[in-house]
Amino acid sequence: MASPTLISDTNAWKDLKGHVEEIKKTHLRDLMGDVDRCKSMTVEFDGVLLDYSRQRATLETIDKLFKLADAAHLKEKINRMYTGERINSTENRPVLHVALRASRDAVIQSDGKNVVPEVWKVLDKIREFSERVRSGSWVGATGKALKDVIAVGIGGSFLGPLFVHTALQTEPEAIESARGRQLHFLANVDPIDVARNITGLNPETTLVVVVSKTFTTAETMLNARTLREWISAALGPSAVAKHMVAVSTNLTLVEKFGIDPNNAFAFWDWVGGRYSVCSAVGVLPLSLQYGFSVVEKFLKGASSIDQHFYSAPFEKNIPVLLGLLSVWNVSFFGYPARAILPYSQALEKLAPHIQQVSMESNGKGVSIDGVPLPFEAGEIDFGEPGTNGQHSFYQLIHQGRVIPCDFIGVVRSQQPVYLKGEPVSNHDELMSNFFAQPDALAYGKTEEQLHKENVPPHLIPHKTFSGNRPSFSLLLPSLNAYNIGQLLAIYEHRIAVEGFIWGINSFDQWGVELGKSLATQVRKQINASRSKGEPVEGFNFSTTTLLSRYLEASADVPANPPTTLLPKI
Ligand code: F6P
Repeated sequence: MASPTLISDTNAWKDLKGHVEEIKKTHLRDLMGDVDRCKSMTVEFDGVLLDYSRQRATLETIDKLFKLADAAHLKEKINRMYTGERINSTENRPVLHVALRASRDAVIQSDGKNVVPEVWKVLDKIREFSERVRSGSWVGATGKALKDVIAVGIGGSFLGPLFVHTALQTEPEAIESARGRQLHFLANVDPIDVARNITGLNPETTLVVVVSKTFTTAETMLNARTLREWISAALGPSAVAKHMVAVSTNLTLVEKFGIDPNNAFAFWDWVGGRYSVCSAVGVLPLSLQYGFSVVEKFLKGASSIDQHFYSAPFEKNIPVLLGLLSVWNVSFFGYPARAILPYSQALEKLAPHIQQVSMESNGKGVSIDGVPLPFEAGEIDFGEPGTNGQHSFYQLIHQGRVIPCDFIGVVRSQQPVYLKGEPVSNHDELMSNFFAQPDALAYGKTEEQLHKENVPPHLIPHKTFSGNRPSFSLLLPSLNAYNIGQLLAIYEHRIAVEGFIWGINSFDQWGVELGKSLATQVRKQINASRSKGEPVEGFNFSTTTLLSRYLEASADVPANPPTTLLPKI
């Protein structure tokens, strides 16, 4: 077999290495003056507008990035994803989250079988179940309607649904359909998270949805057992059947846990955890809260971008352009991070979700063939909604390190406010910042300008802004369920593009395993020390000392408590 080629060995990559030295001599202040360049650096699809003119790139750069895409066989890799090939080779799985939002009549094959009918079978089951719960025809053990839902899950079984829920919470149609209902999320194994969730809730009117792809995740299973205890203690063990349902690929373990398999909502191993928000993982809790018809719009928005990503030529393809330019920033400029800056409070959970999608997908050190990468892959993602971030870390991105930024703006606010006598509406005020910040980063402020403003000489170095700091501007027409789906899919596919170019497997996550197995060893030790007084053994000096101190200082904690203790706040 021929030895695998790393993308960094290709002529296209080497060409870009040379080209970046040329681009380093340019300044965005000058590049932005070229109107033809800027005109061709705007693309629009289905109401979403991407302006990438504030990237440190010329049209020649874009051309060279397309050549890099060819060298990486990007188009073929996208096709292989959409046709259900087992591109997640280390887990021997297809990667088919696009099938989760495909229309009912679409055909998407995996192992020679069209998976779309299975997807819709589960969606129909969710529609039916969520309507029963919402209408009060499915009631709890004491005959009361279930108004509160706690979704128990972590990582991909939490962050995507939380992002969408947070984005919908202030959307007018979603508000109407959620009246009288509450959706809560229990993710952390920290009992404080349990306390926060159950405080003020009545088990009689609460439905618990246990969400876990594997149904083995330690945190989720302990939290699920804790809530099972909370329900049983209040209503008796038989109440569990009415108050607990599950979402998983592992229906055998769901049944073993004590949840009726009829009340389990399946998904498939071809859905990665962090790509699962469009499966029952997100669709069930969100439909219970907002009704299936709102959630269906979210799926349609994601599907629209799926089709665009699959069929649009690269020069008009929003996820492809975003992905290629992200590779440009990371691998050629060496910018290690990316700031996600939505100018919408409704998108406050976008950055935490994308942190997992991006960093769990592309935080890899070897190629898909197992060859160590001679370059860094992946980005450090972080972010906050504007304008809050402006009063926090923007100092660093303006005058400290260069962090490429994603500015995300929305034309129409979900919740407009107009005050008589104010110069602009509250949303216009917010958006003034959305338009100003990218230019401040790109242009900066020169010593010369400061001299002209009579700034005292000793302050000039402190008030100078180097500028030349790249950003994307993404403008959405509004923020309804459909647009939220579009935004999600844009990020998912952009991250896939980056991984396809770097030649890594963006769909496995072996890096999370080591810590998990060490925690198992520690758990065993804690149990042995507390129940049998066994000394701490088998750890290094530091861990032994820390663990011994922890055990000694909490020696009053009962090893086998006579009764269950649940948090009270
Ligand atoms: O953090 C590792 C991980 O496997 C994620 O990929 C996944 O989203 C999360 O754990 C939760 O897994 P599960 O849905 O199986 O409980």
